[in-house]
Amino acid sequence: MQQIINGIGNLPGILKQLGCKRLFLVVDSSYPFLNIKDAIEALPGRQAMFSDFTPNPLYEQVCKGIELFKASECDSILAVGGGSAMDVAKCIKLAVLAEEGNAAIIPPLVSQRLPIDGASIPFIAIPTTAGTGSESTHNAVMYYEGAKQTVTNDGILPDCALLEPSVLKTLPLYQKKCTMMDALCQGIESWWSVNSTEESREYSRKAVELVMANWRKYIFDNDSDAAAQIMLAANYGGRAINLAQTTAAHAMSYKITSLYKLPHGHAVAVCLPEIWDWMLTHPADCSDPRGRAWLDGIFAQISHAMGAPGVKGAIAIFREMMSAMEMQNPAAGSDRADELEILSSSVNPVRLKNNPLAIDKEAAQALYSIIVKA
Ligand SMILES: NC(=O)c1ccc[n+]([C@@H]2O[C@H](COP(=O)([O-])OP(=O)(O)OC[C@H]3O[C@@H](n4cnc5c(N)ncnc54)[C@H](O)[C@@H]3O)[C@@H](O)[C@H]2O)c1
Repeated sequence: MQQIINGIGNLPGILKQLGCKRLFLVVDSSYPFLNIKDAIEALPGRQAMFSDFTPNPLYEQVCKGIELFKASECDSILAVGGGSAMDVAKCIKLAVLAEEGNAAIIPPLVSQRLPIDGASIPFIAIPTTAGTGSESTHNAVMYYEGAKQTVTNDGILPDCALLEPSVLKTLPLYQKKCTMMDALCQGIESWWSVNSTEESREYSRKAVELVMANWRKYIFDNDSDAAAQIMLAANYGGRAINLAQTTAAHAMSYKITSLYKLPHGHAVAVCLPEIWDWMLTHPADCSDPRGRAWLDGIFAQISHAMGAPGVKGAIAIFREMMSAMEMQNPAAGSDRADELEILSSSVNPVRLKNNPLAIDKEAAQALYSIIVKA
C-alpha cells in the first residue's frame, strides 16, 4: 500500500524507512529553480541525476535514463517534477527490473503487466505540478515512434508520494491552469468511467469538490492554502484514475496535443465539455452495464459537486472556467478537413472503452469539428 505524506521535512525519514542509500534522481528542467532543491541535495548518501528529457517524454530519452541508472549503482529512485518526470522514472524502473529490459516499455509488451519485483527498487515521487496525480498511479505515459504509449504495471506505483505544495510557487501561471484542468478532468472522467467503483468515486468526488472550491484563489490570487488544496485534489484525481482510468476526453486529447502543441491538461479540457454535452444528447447509446439511469445519476452527482443545479449548468460552469482563464480551443491550420480526419483516426480505442457511451469514428469527427475552430 502506498504511503502519502505531506511536507519535504519528512523526506529523510521516509528514505531511511525504505532503506534508500544511493538515490537516483529523475528531475525536469524546473529542478534548479525549485525551493526544495537544497533540501534534496543535503540528503545523506551518494546521488546520481537524470534530467535529459522533454515534457511528453520520448522512448529514446527514457533509454538514456535507463543506461544512466544501470551505470550509477543506485538502489532507489526519487522523481521530482511534473507528470513527465514521474513517468520517466516509472519507465526506468520497469525496464531495469523486467527480464525483457527496454522492450518492456514499448509495443507489443507495453500492454502486458510483466511480473517484476517492484519492492527491490524503492521509489519516491514528489510532484511539482498539481495535475496528473502520477505520483499515485501505476501508469506512465511515453511516446514511441510518434505514438503515445501507456505503460502499466503495479510495480511502478511509487512506494511513497510526498506532497509539498510550496513547490507550486514557481509553476508558471499557464502551467498552473493546464495542470489544474487535468486534475478536474481526471476527477470527472474517473467518476463517469465504466470502471468506477465506490472507492474510486469517492476519490473523484473529493478531486472535483476541491478544485471547484479553490480554483479561483489558486489561479488568480496565488493563495498558498488554495495551492495545497489543489495539490490534494490532483492526488485524489490520480488515485481515482488508478482504479477507474480516464475516458473519451483523455483519449481524444492526445492528437490535439501533438497536432496543435497544446499542453496535456489544456487539450483534455477543450474536449471534455463537448463530449459531456454530446453524451447528454445521445441517451440511447449507454455502454455502461449499470445502465442509462445509473449514468444520469452519476452526471447529477458530478454536477452537484461542481455546484450546479443540473448537468447543463455544470457544463456551462466548466466552459466559464475555461473562459475566465482565457484557455481557448485550438484553431485549424491550412487544411481543416485533413486535420479532422487525422484527429478522428487517432483515437485510442482502449480509453474509449472506458467511456460510458460508445463513440465511433463518425461521432469523434463530429466532436472534433466542434472542438477545433475553423
Ligand atoms: N502517469 C499518469 O498517471 C499520468 C496521468 C496524467 C498525465 N500524465 C502525463 O504527464 C505529462 C504531463 O505532466 P504535467 O502536466 O505535470 O507537465 P510536465 O511534467 O510535462 O511539465 C510541464 C512543464 O512544467 C515545468 N514544471 C514542472 N513543475 C514546475 C514547477 N514547480 N515550477 C516551474 N516549472 C515547473 C516542467 O519543467 C515542464 O517544462 C504528460 O505526458 C501526460 O500524458 C501521466
